[in-house]
Amino acid sequence: MSIVVTGATGALGRLTVEELLRRTAPDNIVALARDRAKAAGLAARGVRIEIADYGRPETLDGVFAAGDRVLLISGNEPGQRLTQHRAVIDAAREAGVGLLAYTSVLGGPAATFSIAEEHIATEQALLASGVPYCLLRNGWYHENYTGALATTLKIGAVVGSAGGGRVASAARRDYAEAAAVVLTGSGHDNAVYELSGDTAWTMAEYAAEVSRQTGRHIPYNDLPHDAYVALMVDAGVPALGARMVADADAGIARGELAATPGDLSRLLGRPTTPIAESIAEALKQLPV
Ligand SMILES: NC(=O)c1ccc[n+]([C@@H]2O[C@H](COP(=O)([O-])OP(=O)(O)OC[C@H]3O[C@@H](n4cnc5c(N)ncnc54)[C@H](OP(=O)(O)O)[C@@H]3O)[C@@H](O)[C@H]2O)c1
Repeated sequence: MSIVVTGATGALGRLTVEELLRRTAPDNIVALARDRAKAAGLAARGVRIEIADYGRPETLDGVFAAGDRVLLISGNEPGQRLTQHRAVIDAAREAGVGLLAYTSVLGGPAATFSIAEEHIATEQALLASGVPYCLLRNGWYHENYTGALATTLKIGAVVGSAGGGRVASAARRDYAEAAAVVLTGSGHDNAVYELSGDTAWTMAEYAAEVSRQTGRHIPYNDLPHDAYVALMVDAGVPALGARMVADADAGIARGELAATPGDLSRLLGRPTTPIAESIAEALKQLPV
């Protein structure tokens, strides 16, 4: 029996493996990656690497074993994800895995923005598969915002179309730690966790915190949906991705990413990371 993390060479996957290594021996962990070179750092830590691609089901043959506890990290190719996730679920079912945890979206079927569609369909496929599951319904990462701080400071404003909606985001590391808790713990079979930060903030509050920490006046510029899409496309974001981001902002404006039920801090046994802490961390990484 192993703990298997798919998407292990991505940002969440790497952090999850790090958290697993704090809780269990490396030889209990299998990391699924598309690119062995990208996984070299994980292999150096003693983690077994299996090469697999969600989009090529034959590569998933034999990567899982009976009783494995698997984390399926959602893919990042919109439009392909449901087919890809189904392939992983099928392989997990055929192998007889003990638990398949899936990184879904906060609110599950209640989320009406477009990014949520493939998550909701994946949840349905997982439930229909009969595989013991755990739904990790992840809210937004702080890093969705702090990752753009260089641009924010360059243009002198936080830009979005979320209006006065609140986002209960948490650090990516918080979600990774929660996944590791579930994968190494017990009592999570067929559980649904609504994972989000302890505090929901508005974009204006985020801009005010960036201003406070930088000593500059950084306002929040709220744009209509189409103007926000156009701005992102002008900046080089592919049109589909830009529409999905603006659509998620519309979801935020409707309050769909604001829930603070406390599931994440309960799994962690500590408060979630405050957004102010992640802003400070990200500012330290910027070139001076
Ligand atoms: N909650 C949020 O705020 C939020 C924000 C962004 C994304 N997400 C979702 O959460 C997931 C994890 O986030 P992240 O920050 O870790 O994203 P990420 O850094 O883009 O990682 C995605 C991982 O999925 C792997 N992957 C993609 N397509 C695959 C395929 N066909 N076969 C096998 N592996 C595949 C990637 O492999 P490679 O390393 O080979 O590229 C990568 O390891 C994302 O993929 C996305 O679905 C959530």
